[in-house]
Amino acid sequence: MKLLTVLGSTGSIGRQTLEVVAGNPGLFSIYALAANSRVKLLAEQARRFKAKKAVIADKRYYGELKNRLADTNTKVAAGRTALCELAADMQPQLVVNALVGFAGLEPTLLALQAGKKVALANKESLVAGGHLVMPLAMENKIIPIDSEHSAIFQCLQGERAESVESIVLTASGGPFWGRTVPELENATPEEAIRHPNWRMGKKISVDSATMMNKGLEVIEAHWLFKLDYDKIKVLVQRESIVHSLVTFIDGAVLAQLGMPDMRVPIQYALTYPQRMTSSAARIPWSKLDKLSFTPVREDSFACLALAYRAGRTGGSMPAVMNAANEEAVGMFLSGKIKFLDIPRIIEFVMNKHKVIAVPDYSCLVEVDREGRLLAREYAKKKG
Ligand SMILES: NC(=O)c1ccc[n+]([C@@H]2O[C@H](COP(=O)([O-])OP(=O)(O)OC[C@H]3O[C@@H](n4cnc5c(N)ncnc54)[C@H](OP(=O)(O)O)[C@@H]3O)[C@@H](O)[C@H]2O)c1
Repeated sequence: MKLLTVLGSTGSIGRQTLEVVAGNPGLFSIYALAANSRVKLLAEQARRFKAKKAVIADKRYYGELKNRLADTNTKVAAGRTALCELAADMQPQLVVNALVGFAGLEPTLLALQAGKKVALANKESLVAGGHLVMPLAMENKIIPIDSEHSAIFQCLQGERAESVESIVLTASGGPFWGRTVPELENATPEEAIRHPNWRMGKKISVDSATMMNKGLEVIEAHWLFKLDYDKIKVLVQRESIVHSLVTFIDGAVLAQLGMPDMRVPIQYALTYPQRMTSSAARIPWSKLDKLSFTPVREDSFACLALAYRAGRTGGSMPAVMNAANEEAVGMFLSGKIKFLDIPRIIEFVMNKHKVIAVPDYSCLVEVDREGRLLAREYAKKKG
């Protein structure tokens, strides 16, 4: 029995993590669950999985969570401090970080500092604070959940880092693949979150539509696999079956394939270094007539180029880019800005930012605040 804490249990990755747990009776037990505000679902999950602890980050829901779990043995707490204490709790063997955004960085740092293994979905942890996270994550302390990084991680098992020549992160291209820039000007939030191959939370769905998601993943891969940006390429793989690939120095290429189903990389992260049976759909080879690979047109997807620029600049630049993106995506989803304002805002914020070479965590919090403020100011002026 592996004891797990799931941070962000009510989200897309969190819910699928609990599906994996339910599908493997006897393998995992839930120690604690945490969410932001979806209190009813959190309480249902805590009851179903007999969690020892449940934390709601938004303190306004403390009373409701307590009432809903009054007849159980689940200990209830609320607030950011309680969430961070949960991340560092010594009881579970593995912390699944399925939080979204910069809010996930501090729990990642605290879990690793406490010696926990982290199954990491929260890519923003590495984008904003890779230089703080990775020194704490030696010896496979982080197992990636992101399907592309899980693919690379799987291809690298038993390989030496020096044998890697380059990697390709595959991208679905999102809902707007093939559209021209003028056609994207009036793209709506409803269109942007309608992803062709994956069912995901709203923020990552918009990130997929702008291809900032791939940009964030390039930075995530830079930190996880210690690769220069020149060695990380992106190709659109429309079928979302080839999840990423590695080219080795002898010219051999290894890829990991599978149907688009996040429960597969989640289960791998939970059971690593072992593999367990799964009922996930298998590739229907007889019906598969092609696997296509296409380069990305940077004129339509400016966010990808901005992310490469932020990654190559380094220091606090990826953190400010991430903050501007989070804020811009939030404003787009609430109808305050247009789709193409997202890269405009990010570029504006990056151009204004004075890079700090090696920011510590409190400095990153300030950078995050600055990025959000500048993003809102720009939107206000243009609006
Ligand atoms: N979804 C995917 O298929 C997928 C694939 C690869 C990587 N990822 C990455 O995985 C992460 C999670 O994505 P997702 O799609 O699962 O997101 P999501 O559906 O929006 O879920 C986010 C979770 O985090 C909680 N949360 C949000 N803000 C919080 C805060 N400030 N404090 C505490 N909890 C907070 C939410 O709680 P409430 O429900 O209460 O709001 C929810 O449980 C992201 O970094 C994403 O890029 C996702």
